[in-house]
Amino acid sequence: MSRIAYVNGQYVLHGEAAVHIEDRGYQFADGVYEVVDIANGELVDEEPHLDRLDRSLDELRIAWPMSRRAMKLVMRQVIARNLVKNGMIYIQITRGVAPRDHGFPAGVPSSLVMTAKSTKPVPAEQPDDQGIAVISTPDIRWTRPDIKSVALLPNILCKQKAREAGAYEAWLVDADGYVTEGSSTNAWIVTKNNEVVTRGTGGNAILNGITRQAFIKLMATNGLTFVERKFTVAEALEAKEAFISASTTRIKAVVRIDGKPVGNGHPGETVAKLRRIYWAAAAEGGILPKQPTNIREPRA
Ligand code: PDD
Repeated sequence: MSRIAYVNGQYVLHGEAAVHIEDRGYQFADGVYEVVDIANGELVDEEPHLDRLDRSLDELRIAWPMSRRAMKLVMRQVIARNLVKNGMIYIQITRGVAPRDHGFPAGVPSSLVMTAKSTKPVPAEQPDDQGIAVISTPDIRWTRPDIKSVALLPNILCKQKAREAGAYEAWLVDADGYVTEGSSTNAWIVTKNNEVVTRGTGGNAILNGITRQAFIKLMATNGLTFVERKFTVAEALEAKEAFISASTTRIKAVVRIDGKPVGNGHPGETVAKLRRIYWAAAAEGGILPKQPTNIREPRA
């Protein structure tokens, strides 16, 4: 399969795509990214992803490499050139290429890289779903995981720990014993009282997932009771159901935590319901606002 990447103004063969060795993303992880789901050729909740990209850039004082309108055109080009109908697009912006120095370089344009790939669509109905296992592990990240930074070293170490334990995901636990989120997903439980619970964004302890936001909105109109609060691993083990969410994963039922069963040890009805309603929403390009909340043009 011939794949095309976008690198700083050029569409190049994926296998030959390269950035300079002094790109600050490479040297300092000085950059941000987004991953957007593509369903039936449509970007799912594109504007909220671009709003979050804008926020990440703003928090790190990295300039937009081009206008948001131009970025959307490039995204469509990358998707079209890779013939993606179902899959994902990856967007990465770094502070640019400059001689290695910790302080921000002056007058350096941001670097922009995009890739897109096809993935096999997962059906909304999954009667044979076995669910996934997670492990819990201390949240060893910096204090700003709300920023979608490419600095993912703690996340990858935790994910690898999960893999080596035969689990799919690691749930990160803060110093007070509460789950923050997964290494690349948000974490949820469904209590015995049928409350669907996930941690709030206060204190910048989690990434405010776009899928998370979509689920919260969908719950209100689909008879599910949503409660935003912290929970512990012990509470998750007492829960009826647990699950994870992210743009690529969408939703997966968590049936084991640290080797112990959640609920009856099988995916439950809340996950099946959320999957059904989210799949329908994703096929329509998502359900979050279709208008940007804020447009900042590139800085001079
Ligand atoms: N991960 N929390 C973390 C730490 C994440 O890395 C992600 C996404 C999420 C879910 O966010 P969203 O629903 O907006 O995808 C939560 C992406 C998919 C990744 O790193 O590949």
